Amino acid sequence: MQPKERELNTFDTLLNMRTAVRPSRLQNIRFYLIHHPKLMVRSLIASVGVFSIGLIGCTPPQNFASTAQARLNNVKSTQQAQAPSESETQAPVANPVSPTPAPTRTPDVVYVPTPPQVVDEMIRIADVKPTDVVYDLGSGDGRIVIAAAKQRGARGIGIDINPARVREATYNAKKAGVSDLVQFRQQDLFETDFSEATVVMLYLLPRLNMRLRPKLLRDLKPGTRIVSHSFDMGNWKPDQVVEVDGRMVYYWVVPENPPANLLQPDVEELG
Ligand SMILES: C[S@@+](CC[C@H](N)C(=O)[O-])C[C@H]1O[C@@H](n2cnc3c(N)ncnc32)[C@H](O)[C@@H]1O
Repeated sequence: MQPKERELNTFDTLLNMRTAVRPSRLQNIRFYLIHHPKLMVRSLIASVGVFSIGLIGCTPPQNFASTAQARLNNVKSTQQAQAPSESETQAPVANPVSPTPAPTRTPDVVYVPTPPQVVDEMIRIADVKPTDVVYDLGSGDGRIVIAAAKQRGARGIGIDINPARVREATYNAKKAGVSDLVQFRQQDLFETDFSEATVVMLYLLPRLNMRLRPKLLRDLKPGTRIVSHSFDMGNWKPDQVVEVDGRMVYYWVVPENPPANLLQPDVEELG
């Protein structure tokens, strides 16, 4: 008898001798490993499968749901941080969803962006240079200071009372690759110190220009250029006026000694 045959016979005998000496489990395994390796592998795979099903069955299903929800929340919060909302909050009402705080008070003028060709003309007429510090009082989505930084390499500060606009402008500056040159601040333009400006851009309203005029003339250094889209400054006559696609662009230079009448908002001028 061959050794393998002998071993098989011995095992059969032992199996049949139920009451006699039973082969140990280890011996069974050893036997199957030697004589039926394929069967052994199949058994192992089946056992692993059954064990996995058992594991899944024991895992509470809400764990999967909560993990998926957590991932979704994560994506949403990343999107919120990266892409600002387009919604405009004009009244100081807190938005319960957005983490952006509401304006400290109602803006004096609603957000209306200056068209790109007018932005280009405002930059051209002010002859913006890399040494300039450009302020946009009521900066909206930041397009004027961002364009001045991109086109002329100028530093820029945008002031807006609406935090949603400040967030949007900051995002736009990052997208335009000029975050190192420009900054946006949530402030009331009537309370902002803009005395470091060498160029001031405006797109407000006639009465706001008039209200701002004394502060512009008092706080800005002589020689500072001021450009206003659409609206003039009453009897402070502009040094230049140009029309772009039906829109007026006004240009002034702050004089050394402003006339006294311009340092007061003229009630009659305001109408
Ligand atoms: C007509 S938009 C001009 C936006 C931008 N300058 C442009 O030309 O595209 C006026 C902006 O001024 C902001 N604003 C209104 N009142 C303000 C205030 N008191 N202080 C700062 N910003 C104000 C508004 O939120 C709005 O974004």
